[in-house]
Amino acid sequence: MPGSIQQVTTSESSNGSADPDRIAQTAVAGGEDLQVIGPDYLLRLATDDDAEQLFELGKDPAVTRFFSWGPYTSIDEPRAYIAALAAKRDSGALLEFVIVERATGAIVGVTGLTEFSLRDRRAVVGSWLGHKHWGTGVNLASKALVLHLGFEHLGLERISAYSHVRNGRSKAALERIGFHAEGVLQAWHWHRGEPQDVTLHCLLREQYLRTESAAHAIEVSGAVPPAFVAPTSTKA
Ligand SMILES: CC(C)(COP(=O)(O)OP(=O)(O)OC[C@H]1O[C@@H](n2cnc3c(N)ncnc32)[C@H](O)[C@@H]1OP(=O)(O)O)[C@@H](O)C(=O)NCCC(=O)NCCS
Repeated sequence: MPGSIQQVTTSESSNGSADPDRIAQTAVAGGEDLQVIGPDYLLRLATDDDAEQLFELGKDPAVTRFFSWGPYTSIDEPRAYIAALAAKRDSGALLEFVIVERATGAIVGVTGLTEFSLRDRRAVVGSWLGHKHWGTGVNLASKALVLHLGFEHLGLERISAYSHVRNGRSKAALERIGFHAEGVLQAWHWHRGEPQDVTLHCLLREQYLRTESAAHAIEVSGAVPPAFVAPTSTKA
């Protein structure tokens, strides 16, 4: 359901603890206008107009090498991806954003959260960047945005990530941010007709607060979709 109330909240958290009142307040609307804004990049929800840019980024086989999808061969594929996002937000299945370079307005990649357990206050982060943006710092900056949203606005206590066991770049990038590997999940994903082993990475909220990401100046504007907000009661 589209949001009817707009909230603006900031990253400031004097003692590093999530404020339940703030979380409840930001959860009252549908979240169509949600943005997470950093100094150089912002996260916003994808619109139909973004399909062309996503197609250009996602048609590179290097980008989608470890994914179940891609590379894109038709613009109809990113169009279908964008068209499916609203229903996934409404159901609580996926909260995914395009990463926008603020200076140019250009989309540089996609990041977001999925596999939520609100009761257990956890979710999984996933990202991909256009090839020319690898190694530029946008991964760190955009992860700081999505981690801020998850830990400071959605009430999460644990954010996990998967990296394919052969995706050394992804593993190194996650460790650089502060994630630690917890082990290998065998046959966790099924891509291209084959079972795929992935490394499970974890970042707890208390660990996040000691990372470089937590020091970024970040603002969240708009409403958080209600399906992604953890209960405020500790008995939930
Ligand atoms: C994964 C991804 C988001 C990381 O972003 P990035 O900008 O490439 O990451 P960074 O440059 O910040 O960090 C990568 C690190 O891996 C290192 N690295 C590169 N190739 C490596 C390899 N084969 N093995 C180990 N480390 C490697 C880099 O040197 C770098 O470390 P450094 O910063 O200490 O030099 C990006 O590469 C991407 O979109 N890849 C395609 C999609 C994908 O695989 N997504 C992850 C799904 S789990």
